Amino acid sequence: MTFATHQIRLAARPSGLPTPEVWDHTESEIEDPAEGTFVVAVRFVSLDPAMRGWMNEGRSYVPPVQIGEVMRAFAGGEVVATAHPDFAVGDLVTGLFGVQTYAVSDGRGVQKLAPDADLPTNLAVLGMPGMTAYFGLLDIGQPVEGQTVLVSGAAGAVGATVGQIAKLKGCRAVGVAGGPEKCRILTEDFGFDAAIDYKGDDLGVALKEKCPDRVDVYFDNVGGEVLDAALGRLARGARIVICGAVSQYNESSMRGPANYMALLVRRARMEGFVVFDYASRYADAAREMGGWMAEGKLKSVEDVVDGIETFPETLLKLFRGENMGKLCLRVAEA
Ligand SMILES: NC(=O)c1ccc[n+]([C@@H]2O[C@H](COP(=O)([O-])OP(=O)(O)OC[C@H]3O[C@@H](n4cnc5c(N)ncnc54)[C@H](OP(=O)(O)O)[C@@H]3O)[C@@H](O)[C@H]2O)c1
Repeated sequence: MTFATHQIRLAARPSGLPTPEVWDHTESEIEDPAEGTFVVAVRFVSLDPAMRGWMNEGRSYVPPVQIGEVMRAFAGGEVVATAHPDFAVGDLVTGLFGVQTYAVSDGRGVQKLAPDADLPTNLAVLGMPGMTAYFGLLDIGQPVEGQTVLVSGAAGAVGATVGQIAKLKGCRAVGVAGGPEKCRILTEDFGFDAAIDYKGDDLGVALKEKCPDRVDVYFDNVGGEVLDAALGRLARGARIVICGAVSQYNESSMRGPANYMALLVRRARMEGFVVFDYASRYADAAREMGGWMAEGKLKSVEDVVDGIETFPETLLKLFRGENMGKLCLRVAEA
């Protein structure tokens, strides 16, 4: 049996926003799997801001995607052929399968899901973004009941989960997002106590108003001006979780925080983390978060766009703020 796979490969390193020319669309055929491997029909591809960093030259926390390689991506799909003892035809799986319609895997880093699992949810709250929110907030941010948790990128996959977990832990949750509609959704649908529109509000004024007791935990997804404004509103002993800096990913040189002396004045600490370091604890976190979802205390929102061929344009939604929740591509079944 052979599988005709459509692939999206990195053709050139972008400067600024990735334009269509940095991608190649290729077709190839996958034969029956070799011993110890299996073939996955990819159904959903996760689009993540981190992909922009993976396109750059030079090693980060993972090696860069090489020119000519299939673009690295988390994805979910179904096993359609197998020569692997632990994976059967019909198994639902998630893993780093790349931006392609069929992938070959040896099972490393692959999660096998329940037969009735929802694939987009397993790329969202029960997948990498959910793990990021859970460990970043609870392990690094260490929120205490009654404290104020401020999160930027709050209407995104990680941010919306951070705010909801903060509420579950008895904290005041304040989100920063772009536009009044996203802010409305945060307070009305996700249970945030307040939301700040960084595109429309004066950040300094809004932070004073929405965080009257200052900020005990700032979970930073965006960096730039929002980080500086948050530093100006810290409570004594605050924790700043450096999760990402999406406002800077397409800049040629990253802007760091100007207002960092606030850390000294407020006896605060700022700490970065990479979710992959928590891999051995994912299953426990997913179990707890699955329980919260079953009790109706945690929502997963996925923003699904059809067609793997739309990848170059759809990826840009993340940098234009056009997604609400976890951005995924649905791959048409062959
Ligand atoms: N440390 C880790 O291990 C780890 C793991 C996963 C993700 N991350 C990071 O977590 C962050 C969120 O990821 P995600 O997957 O949940 O993405 P996301 O929040 O679903 O999507 C990105 C959002 O960023 C906001 N944004 C874009 N440009 C911006 C700008 N110039 N200023 C402020 N906000 C801007 C947009 O929302 P608005 O409409 O509100 O502008 C957009 O919707 C990213 O920084 C990502 O790199 C880190």
